[in-house]
Amino acid sequence: MRKPILAGNWKMHKTVAEAVALVTDMRDALLAIPGVEKVFCPPFMAIPDVARLVQGTELGVGAQDLYWEESGAYTGEVSPGMVAEFCNYVIIGHSERREYFGETDETVNRKIKAALAHNLTPIVCVGESLELREAGRTESWVTDQVRAALDGLTAAQVAGLVIAYEPIWAIGTGRAATADEAERVCGAVVRATVASLYDQPTADAVRIQYGGSIKPSNTAELLAKPNIDGGLVGGASLQAADFIQIVQLTAKAKGLE
Ligand code: PGA
Repeated sequence: MRKPILAGNWKMHKTVAEAVALVTDMRDALLAIPGVEKVFCPPFMAIPDVARLVQGTELGVGAQDLYWEESGAYTGEVSPGMVAEFCNYVIIGHSERREYFGETDETVNRKIKAALAHNLTPIVCVGESLELREAGRTESWVTDQVRAALDGLTAAQVAGLVIAYEPIWAIGTGRAATADEAERVCGAVVRATVASLYDQPTADAVRIQYGGSIKPSNTAELLAKPNIDGGLVGGASLQAADFIQIVQLTAKAKGLE
């Protein structure tokens, strides 16, 4: 059985002091919820402090990006080794990075390989725009993104990945995909693509999150779906009570408590 995984993508929010306060507020309540992996993805500046706060617990820490080179003259970038000093996860290819920072399927693939070389678990983001959705191109777009992201990876590497399906029109809009829609893309598109590129056991092992306006009021329905193994949570992960509730509802939806 796949272990559900909830990750909070804090984006460009929270100073170090605010990050410490938020994690301190959530830590004990989150640790009391069984069977669900919980990951904080703060801005780089706050990562060392957050990592210290959760050290020795089962709470995970992730970066929101990395660069693929090991070191060198790359002003402003953070290497996979630097991330791995504090983190066990890294979000790769978020739609905001693709849209505002020029990330392509090729850079996403390079970053995934660099992360894996440092034993980081990539949370690989895919998802279609509203325009593509309205043009009926969701399936082909997401399939192509998954194919490109996984290019050159072994089945064992893919089995350990987390893939987040995040329709761009649902991110930060308050308008989540319906549970049926999200389930269809997570299952019949993302997992099916992994099965066709590799094999069924690999597809059965990879964990697939839904992301885009997850909140306590829609968690139970989304997470009850068999192909949705967790969530990548933006706005609601910045509110301690909401994120705790989302994790609790996930545990319940998966029959873990
Ligand atoms: P949201 O963001 O939950 O605020 O919609 C999700 C994401 O971008 O990962």
